[in-house]
Amino acid sequence: MKKRTLLSFLALTLTVPLLFACKKTDHTSNPLITEVPTPTVTMQATQSKEFITDYLLTIDSMTGYDISELLYGLFLEDINYAVDGGLYTEMVKNRSFEYGSMAKGENLHGWSADQDLEYRVTDGSLDHSYLNQNNTHYLSIRNTTESELSIKNSGFLDGMTIEEGANYEFSGYFRSKEGISSLQILLIDESGNLYASASIPEITKEFRKYEVTLTALASAPSSFGVSLYVVFGKGQMDADMLSLFPQDTYKGRKNGLRKDLSLALEELSPAFLRFPGGCVVEGETLENSYNWKNSIGNGIPFEINGSVTYGDVATRPLSENLWGDQNSSSNHPYYMTYGLGFYEYFLLCEDLGSEPVPIVNAGLSCLIQGARKVGTPADALPIDSEEFYQYIQDALDLVEFCKGDETTTWGAIRIAMGHKEPFPLNYIGIGNEQWGTIYFERYEQFVKAFEKAALEKPELYKDIQLIVANGPVASDTYAWKKIKLYGTEYAGLVDEHYYMAPSWFLSNTKRYDSYDRNSVPVFLGEYAAKSNNLEAALAEAAFMTGIERNGDIVKLASYAPLFGNSISYQWTPDLIWFKSGVVWKSVNYYVQQLFSTNVAKQVIPSTLTGNQSKLTNESFYQVCGIDENQDIILKLVNTSDKSIDITIRIPELKETKAFVTTLSSESLTDMNTVVNPKLIAPVDASIIASEEFIYQMPKYCVAILRIPTK
Ligand code: AHR
Repeated sequence: MKKRTLLSFLALTLTVPLLFACKKTDHTSNPLITEVPTPTVTMQATQSKEFITDYLLTIDSMTGYDISELLYGLFLEDINYAVDGGLYTEMVKNRSFEYGSMAKGENLHGWSADQDLEYRVTDGSLDHSYLNQNNTHYLSIRNTTESELSIKNSGFLDGMTIEEGANYEFSGYFRSKEGISSLQILLIDESGNLYASASIPEITKEFRKYEVTLTALASAPSSFGVSLYVVFGKGQMDADMLSLFPQDTYKGRKNGLRKDLSLALEELSPAFLRFPGGCVVEGETLENSYNWKNSIGNGIPFEINGSVTYGDVATRPLSENLWGDQNSSSNHPYYMTYGLGFYEYFLLCEDLGSEPVPIVNAGLSCLIQGARKVGTPADALPIDSEEFYQYIQDALDLVEFCKGDETTTWGAIRIAMGHKEPFPLNYIGIGNEQWGTIYFERYEQFVKAFEKAALEKPELYKDIQLIVANGPVASDTYAWKKIKLYGTEYAGLVDEHYYMAPSWFLSNTKRYDSYDRNSVPVFLGEYAAKSNNLEAALAEAAFMTGIERNGDIVKLASYAPLFGNSISYQWTPDLIWFKSGVVWKSVNYYVQQLFSTNVAKQVIPSTLTGNQSKLTNESFYQVCGIDENQDIILKLVNTSDKSIDITIRIPELKETKAFVTTLSSESLTDMNTVVNPKLIAPVDASIIASEEFIYQMPKYCVAILRIPTK
């Protein structure tokens, strides 16, 4: 946050409402727009016979202006079963018996048992018989027969996929006062075929964590209906946190992430990762808003197997996910286990080489979804209440968790969880997509507290920049108006969101050309052209040429949402589609990939010349850049139904082999699907480039030309 004293900030706060009262709200343009457009891309109409192709693209200089190193990143929200049932590789649904009223069968949801088995879920909060105070329910079982009886769990949504030879790690907490004659863990499909088995020897009187590894004898797609069976001989016992993970997680991490989905993220080279929302940060009410402390077990000590741990998944209280169906007994209830919590999020950032951009609740629930449930306008805590201040404290503590050493409360917990080194943290978003006095008066309290903290503990807080929300619509200017009134220290970034039709993206490629270069930079936190077809992807690509051209003031941009589970989802389009054992990438994904893996260091000036009608009926978009190796990178987008010839002039370029990657297809309605996942995928080729050469660009195409100059 740029420094300005709190006093001057508050003085302005008191005087400006009067100024505003006479101003008409303008929803069509940004109030900070200046008259001066960015002079780096010139378009010229020509009648001359100087060139014979459709366009002439001339590189005017090999030096331009630096653009953001963080430009292309990702936004991960647990929507569409992106996390629980998706990226987080836990295979057991309702492992902790904490599911509630959203779920069919409530605490027993996901589980079934042999008829003769006596079983029930016990709430141990009254007599403290629980595993810990954040995980109070457990399963009590009694087998009075001479036969072995079992409980089983078939996993999330379309179930479990098993691979021959792969190892699966089962863990569970068990205790038995009277003993149990045998305990086995099996993987069995609907037809009764056994895939793996392991035994657990005698169990103790107090809860203890037991772990066994199962090796699969054969493969089974999810359609085979493999379930985890926990099989008991005669006796009585309690069980909790019954969990199964593939051993082969992304980067081999325990409690890890699905490898195929994580690799799809890795292949995007995301510069940053925004998390965890989105609306899940806000909640329909504050009760189901995402709380980062819950996601690390609130820092409670957990004594088990003779030692004390912090942050264990067994200590993370479950929360309803606002994207779930709150009002019915659902077969696919949506809970957040927080198994992929903030600690795993920071590890994922580390593994992907991405900068974390966490978002926290502003003491205010979702103004759109919340209004439906709470009434108007939303669940908002009074700003002078202790409850509200706790939200600020939580945000301050998040910084301490990332950067603090062992002498700090939350830094010590991070270290106890296994990460001695601090996690990098420069930005924190305060609230998501909110607006109005109800939001800004809360946001301003966070600003005040962070300014104070920066003075008191500069080693933790001085570099932290706050991100202000700007409402949910492209024409929203809420935050920009605040900045115009109070100055650029109001925020470190302004978070714009928009989901618009492809035509909007095509006609707004110059949106940022006239943004004030001296104002607060932009974080385009969520955007999509509302379809997973080629038309939408081309529109996004055309728009992204505008983002990159303005990469000096658009600091970060992320498509949303990131994942869609094809079995059950709440939002389309999505960048990456998946179900159990299968992943396919949308054409929008490949657009993101082409841009993010060919990012320039500088945008360099260019001139586009074409005949008048071509330039007026704009269907060709481009941005030219240069990277640190002095490779020229041309990003070209042809949205027309005709191939085009482009004369490319690069003064003084020696003849060289250049690399071309194209993404195109026959029809604008084409899209990648589970049955045809690579209908539209990047194709690599090479061409000879020189001082002047012609590039023939297919119709409906995004092309990246990488031209070495050394
Ligand atoms: O990306 C899906 C949702 O869209 C996000 O949760 C919210 O911020 C926006 O309305």
